[in-house]
Amino acid sequence: MKILVLNGPNLNMLGIREPDIYGKSTYDDLVKMIGEHCEKAGVEVSCKQSNSEGALVDMIQQAYFDKVDGIVINPGAYTHTSVAILDALKAVSIPAVEVHISKVDERESFRQISYVSYYASKTITGKGFEGYIEAIDYLVVQ
Ligand code: DQA
Repeated sequence: MKILVLNGPNLNMLGIREPDIYGKSTYDDLVKMIGEHCEKAGVEVSCKQSNSEGALVDMIQQAYFDKVDGIVINPGAYTHTSVAILDALKAVSIPAVEVHISKVDERESFRQISYVSYYASKTITGKGFEGYIEAIDYLVVQ
């Protein structure tokens, strides 16, 4: 089982960025936590992050050629704007779970639309880093 964990813009700034919303732990802490969980679960995982929409599209397309079995994606602000990321997920047709660290549904109105949700089998919000673990476990049992 091969899983790709993809994080979008500003998620490399975890720990620095609005800690009252996203917490004090860093992106490196997140990658470490995911790595440890996947090792125990016997899952091969690759964690990638980009601030660029096109780079995220490229990474999703590459997942097809790398024969990835599942994608966990937090598209950051591109969640609310990117048809290109939605189309990339549809193009590769790899099962995907959408994750948001914060409770997006309780935030600004512009965060209430998610293009990725049109494709994702499941959306997990407001569970902090634990949401990524839940997403991985969900993909493993599918
Ligand atoms: C986020 C929520 C988005 O609205 C925001 O733009 C982010 C992070 C989250 O993880 O809660 O960058 O996806």
